[in-house]
Amino acid sequence: MKFIIDTEENIAKKAAQRYVEILNRKPDTVLGFATGSTPLGLYAELQRLNAAGALSFKDVTTFNLDEYAGLDGSHDQSYRYFMDHNLFMGVDIDRSRTHVPSGLDIAAAADYDRQIKEAGGIELQLLGIGNNGHIGFNEPGTPIDSITHLVDLTEMTRKANARFFASLDEVPTQAVTMGIKTVMNARSIMLMALGKGKADIVKKSFTGPVTPEVPASILQLHPFVEIYLDYEAASML
Ligand code: F6R
Repeated sequence: MKFIIDTEENIAKKAAQRYVEILNRKPDTVLGFATGSTPLGLYAELQRLNAAGALSFKDVTTFNLDEYAGLDGSHDQSYRYFMDHNLFMGVDIDRSRTHVPSGLDIAAAADYDRQIKEAGGIELQLLGIGNNGHIGFNEPGTPIDSITHLVDLTEMTRKANARFFASLDEVPTQAVTMGIKTVMNARSIMLMALGKGKADIVKKSFTGPVTPEVPASILQLHPFVEIYLDYEAASML
């Protein structure tokens, strides 16, 4: 595991440079993306670099980590909507090659890992981390051999995400997420964490024991993981 620790702004820039390297080396790369507040700076930087001609998404295929169950892609809190508005609409990507698990056709989740494999597997999977150590929506206790599946969201996760909804009641209770095994199958992984609120879980995940109770700790066993942290998130390491 490699740690990159810097200011929030520089983290976004350094992470974006990894995409420049990868896409210039292999323009038809398969990328795994995440939603949430953490990647917003990176996504803005990728749009800027794309407009400046430093990288192109023209031949890229993408698979997102997760989606709320019950939300259609046109719902402004769906992760499909998030990706369209925070990245895809701002770059030269072919939208038909972007994949987000369906929040409505739950049975389709069973096919998501096969689709990823058929596309050639994920070259670089981007991850955030939940306050409880979740990656994707794999909450504590998720089996390490899990593939894309339907999950019940914990109260902690629903409360953390309620800031984006009008009220807690509106936060879906379930989601479809890539499993731990799906994530671990990616050839390389980039996890980003920002802010003091993530310092404790960052420490537990990457300096503590590997345990399903802290889902992100499994990343210690992956051969190529980069952890991008701002100074606050790294403050307990
Ligand atoms: C998002 C996802 C989640 C978030 C995590 C952190 O697709 O899978 O695991 O990465 O909840 O969210 P933020 O970045 O909002 O703190």
